[in-house]
Amino acid sequence: MAKKSKTVFVCQECGYESPRWMGQCICGAWNTMVEQKVIDLPEDDSRRRTSVSRTPTRLKEVGSGDYIRIDTGIRELNRVLGGGLVKGSLTLISGEPGIGKSTIIIQAAANIAKSQGTVLYVSGEESEEQIKMRADRVCPQLSDDLYILAETNMENIAAACEKLQPKFLVIDSIQTMYTQAMDSAPGSVSQVRDIGNQLMKLGKSRNIPIFIVAHVTKSGELAGPKIVEHLVDCVLNFTGERDHELRILRAYKNRFGTTSEIGAFQMEENGLKQIDNLSGTFLENTASEAEGSVITAVYEGSRPVLFEVQALTAPANVGFARRTSVGVDYQRLNMILAVLEKKAGMTMINQDVYVNVVGGMRPDSPSIDLAVALAVYSSMRGITCRKRTLVIGEVGLTGEIRSVQNADKIAVEAARLGYEQMILPRKNGDKIGGKLDRTGFRLIGVKNIYEAIDGFKGEEN
Ligand code: TYD
Ligand code: MG
Repeated sequence: MAKKSKTVFVCQECGYESPRWMGQCICGAWNTMVEQKVIDLPEDDSRRRTSVSRTPTRLKEVGSGDYIRIDTGIRELNRVLGGGLVKGSLTLISGEPGIGKSTIIIQAAANIAKSQGTVLYVSGEESEEQIKMRADRVCPQLSDDLYILAETNMENIAAACEKLQPKFLVIDSIQTMYTQAMDSAPGSVSQVRDIGNQLMKLGKSRNIPIFIVAHVTKSGELAGPKIVEHLVDCVLNFTGERDHELRILRAYKNRFGTTSEIGAFQMEENGLKQIDNLSGTFLENTASEAEGSVITAVYEGSRPVLFEVQALTAPANVGFARRTSVGVDYQRLNMILAVLEKKAGMTMINQDVYVNVVGGMRPDSPSIDLAVALAVYSSMRGITCRKRTLVIGEVGLTGEIRSVQNADKIAVEAARLGYEQMILPRKNGDKIGGKLDRTGFRLIGVKNIYEAIDGFKGEEN
């Protein structure tokens, strides 16, 4: 029977389908409609059917079903997934090209093949030989159960799964796959959506966990429609900089755990290595007791991470002072500089300010505000920080230092790493109170930016 097709217009942002072209989509985006051909499915087509039962069930009576988790053999990956890979779950792993998505996945696939049995790695991007070369580099011993398939046709992939019955399936990447049921090109909205749906059915019906690789655009958005993000159980994002070895894996969505955990890796000659002592990595070549250098910390998931913030101020030559920031949010930096100007009596208007978070870390937390402020102060006044001191706290617009979460845990970690004191919000300091008494670790609680500067200078200056 000849397939009947019709033309629709699909928004590249939200996946909304319209029978006619619209300049602005209902999601508000402009010029995102792309013409696409879709094939009319007959009423009884299997793709129209859903596997959900049609009778409502009392929520109380639904079994809570403990998730069966599979150990991926990579502790940091398990942690981000919420304690291992859940059977039947769909995980999207996104990241820029060359960041190491295929590397971490082949490492996990090799481990799972050893412990669980058959694993199928489908690649639409590389040939079987290329994948073998990578695997030889990163996996010490390859299991007999690790299968590889260079294929982009979804129907063939489904057939291969039928035959192999894998315990774990990898699709690298969703943008290269296509289904015969549609005329549109691989990577188009309707293809990606349909492949996503087919994979979900495959995974849920056979209880196979699936990893799907997805590319991101330059701005960090998932290429293709957001629709796959809604479909899957977990969305992981792999970030890092090419010329830095550090790679951070983060969960943006996780139906089986928190999204606040991060996994830290280092890209080496033979694959990704897990980082055990994350704070140690960032503090390695710290220019301690140098002007403009302050050590601070953020709490990532279930552990504190200590790192160095550096600032440099220099008189501006032209009328317009420059502010450059790496790792610190630009708007926050401007706010902190305004507070220093207005509340701490520093003239910033004629100063170029450069701020850098050492080690390629991108902390997304206001708890580093005070460290940024004091680093700028330190560079401008030529005053170094007290020895072995850590600084945390959020700076408010009135110059007050606001409390941060998990300050107690950061203090414990700092004491463990050999720090002697911590400048922190007064409220946090009062709460921690005598808890650290025995360690001899000093807490310097500060209420506002003046007190912080006093505490920073210490007695000797
Ligand atoms: P890859 O996993 O292919 O990235 P993605 O799938 O995200 O595009 O990793 C590519 C980069 O990682 C490549 O530039 C080389 C580097 N690399 C190493 O440094 N060590 C290794 O062991 C491997 C496999 C790759
Ligand atoms: Mg790849």
